[in-house]
Parts: sequence; C-alpha cells; structure tokens
Amino acid sequence: MISDKTFPKNFTWGVATAATQIEGAWNEDGKGETIWDRFSHTPGKTANGDSPDVACDHYHLYPADIEQMKRLGVGSYRFSFSWARVLPQGTGSKNQKGLDFYRRLVDQMLTAGIVPNATLYHWDLPQALQDRGGWPNRDSIGWYCDFAELILGQFADRIPLWATFNEPIAVYVGYGDGFFAPGLRDEAAARQALHHVLVAHGQAVNVFRQLNAPNAKIGIVVDIWKHHPARQCPEDIELALLNDEKTWGFFYNPLFRGKYADRAVKDLAARNAMPKIQADDMETIQAPIDFIGVNCYSRTVDSVDPSLADLEKRRQENPDGFAHLGSEIYPRAMYDALMIAKEYAGTLPIYITENGICTDDKPGSDGKIHDTKRINYLRDYLREVLHAIEDGANVRGYYLWSLMDNFEWSSGYQMQFGLLHVDFETQARLWKDSAYWYQRAVRENKIPA
Ligand code: FCB
Repeated sequence: MISDKTFPKNFTWGVATAATQIEGAWNEDGKGETIWDRFSHTPGKTANGDSPDVACDHYHLYPADIEQMKRLGVGSYRFSFSWARVLPQGTGSKNQKGLDFYRRLVDQMLTAGIVPNATLYHWDLPQALQDRGGWPNRDSIGWYCDFAELILGQFADRIPLWATFNEPIAVYVGYGDGFFAPGLRDEAAARQALHHVLVAHGQAVNVFRQLNAPNAKIGIVVDIWKHHPARQCPEDIELALLNDEKTWGFFYNPLFRGKYADRAVKDLAARNAMPKIQADDMETIQAPIDFIGVNCYSRTVDSVDPSLADLEKRRQENPDGFAHLGSEIYPRAMYDALMIAKEYAGTLPIYITENGICTDDKPGSDGKIHDTKRINYLRDYLREVLHAIEDGANVRGYYLWSLMDNFEWSSGYQMQFGLLHVDFETQARLWKDSAYWYQRAVRENKIPA
C-alpha cells in the first residue's frame, strides 16, 4: 500500500510560520508599521478586531519555540523576514535591532541543527511604502530589491533556502478584493501590482546570483488551488479554466513560459485590467530558479450558477468534509498541485512549503487536545504526496502549516492551524495530538501507522 512507503531518503520535514503571524512586538525596537498593522488597527477589517500586535510573542519567545521544533524533530523551519523590522520606512536607514533579532534567530536554529528556510516577503509591506503607492507603483520593484539585497547580503551564507515571495496572489486579495491589507478594491491596480511582484521576484533572483552563496538556493512559493467546474457543462468548465489562469496560472505562465495565458489576457483586457508590461519584464521574470515552493490546502469549485459554488452552503451541507470556518478537505488537491508543478517546472525540485488545516479544538477535561481531524487530514494529504512522488514529482520536502496557532490574517485568532496550541493570554504552548503524530512521521520518515 502506498501509505506504508517511506518518503525519499533525505526528505526534508519542516514546519512553517510567517513574521506577522507570530512575532508580535509590532512597534518594538524600532520596527516600522506594516500594512497589516494599519489594516488590523482599522475597525471592521479583521475578525473581532484582532491584530498581530502581540500574536505568539515569538519576538521574545523564539528560543523556547526553537526548542519545541527540536523536540518535534523537524529538520527545517520556514519563517519570514519582516521588511519593516529591518527597514522601518521600507527604504533608507536600516534598523540594526531588527537585523540582530534575525541573526539571533538564525544562529539559534543552526545551533539546534534546524535548517533555516527563509521567505523574504510574506505579505507585510511597510506602511511607508504603501503611502507611496505600494505594489501598484512600479518603484516597488526597486524598493523590494534593495530590501532583498540587504537581507540576502547579510544572511545568504547561513540560510540555504530562500523564497522571494509567499503566495503572490495575496497581493491581489489586498488590492483587488479588499479582504487583505491594504484593503483596496481595484482590479487594474491589483493586476499591475502582481506584475510588479513578478518582476521584483526575477530581479531579486538576479541579485542573489551575484552574491557569493554557492550553497544557497532560491525559488518562489505559489499556492495552487485547482479550479474544478461544479458541473461538466461548457460554461462551468470555461470558468474553471479561466480562474486557473487568473490565480496560480498568472504566476506559473510568466515564470515558466514567459507570458500570461491567452485566456487571462483576453479576460483582463476586456475589463481594462491587463497590466502594463515593459520590454524586458518577461525575461526578468523567467530568471532561472532552483526550486518551486507549492502551498496546498484545497481546491475551488466554480460555476456560473453562484448557488452551486457557494462555499458556505457547501460547508453547511457537509461540515465533516470541511475545515473549521475554512476550506474543503480534498486530499487529491495535493496530488493535483504537485502534478501541475511538475507539468510546468519539469524536474525542478519541489518543496511543499505549506499544508495544514484549521480546527477549533480546545484543551479537554484531560488537559489534552485531541485534534483527530487534523491527523486524518495530514495522513490523507501525505498519502497524495507519496502518490505524486510515485508519479514522478520531484518533491524534496514538506513543511506543515503551522508550528503553532497564530494570527490568521483577516480571520484573526478564530482560525487555528497549529500543531501546538497557544493560549494567547499566557503564551503557553501545548502539544496537540497531531504534534505527537507529526513527531513520529518525521522520525520514521513515513506516515505513522
Ligand atoms: C496560507 C498563508 C499562510 C497561512 C495559511 C493558513 O495561504 O500563506 O500565511 O495564512 O494560508
């Protein structure tokens, strides 16, 4: 049986987090304001008005958190740098205390034998740069490259794995949907922003190549939620294909094929939302990368009949088939995502940079957290990882989202993905059953029986 198989030799097992979601210390030691600070401090933007002000207080508790990772046995930790912590105004003078924090964090990881995997940008643009137009302003490419150069220059000798961006689509959700920071709704600006993100990615890869960091590798993390037609009718099928091209395909096509897909171009042109592209942009975007990061949670179901695609309705009809407040549990999404990555990226190494589930388990009368739903989810998704490996996907590692419960963006603290429960009053960390289960998976390099 496929689930009895072990994962490849040297397979990387890790856990993932992001700066805004765990660090807290939002205005300490010279850190500048980010768009998520501003957004969450604006009434009505996040669930319950939750903010990342304190989050998991990881800025102060990082040594204990690294101990937890050591106990889990993971070989690698994926985290992100907060741009505004190191460059409070986004550009210009740097904040030494911010840089020192990351140096201590990375040192401690290395001492613990945990391989750092760093993301440069996980959604937290410095507010000062948003005040100058943010990602829709083409100057953002230069701002980002200066930041990338600073961090890569200081850390590329000790961090072997780098991602330029995490899930660029989030920039669309911020400028097009308004659901994320900075909370704007302008399709054309959002598409232009995405194009700038892609060019910034390519330029940062070029910056990286000029550094002398022979042991470090760089890539980008894209989330793949494959779109499925609700019905096998031409309208639903066409909508699903179009939405694939406007989401993950909007990155995969320029990155691997040097152009935006025709379907997306036609649709965006009709909405006057096709980004302006300069002569060398596509070449820059295609700068060769060393790996592709795949984030996978679920799929999307599309229909021209909104009642058939309504997530809330589908969740009510089948609560067991959905995560708490969240997406559908659909293990096949993992296989599909990895096969898409293989189709576009060929033999390029693939890291699953995020996978996990939101549950609402609380400590029971025995003081423990029996998050069976999470364990079942992980088992079923990991089985699909093995399936994809068997079918030729060059998967090198898996990072579980997330090490611990944290600030889940607009959903605040009501959505929890952690292996470790966090009591946000006391900052106590408590191992859920899934943490013990994952510890076994890591140790045995297989899905626990
Ligand atoms: C991903 C994000 C990550 C976290 C998980 C649940 O889309 O990259 O920061 O919010 O979802």
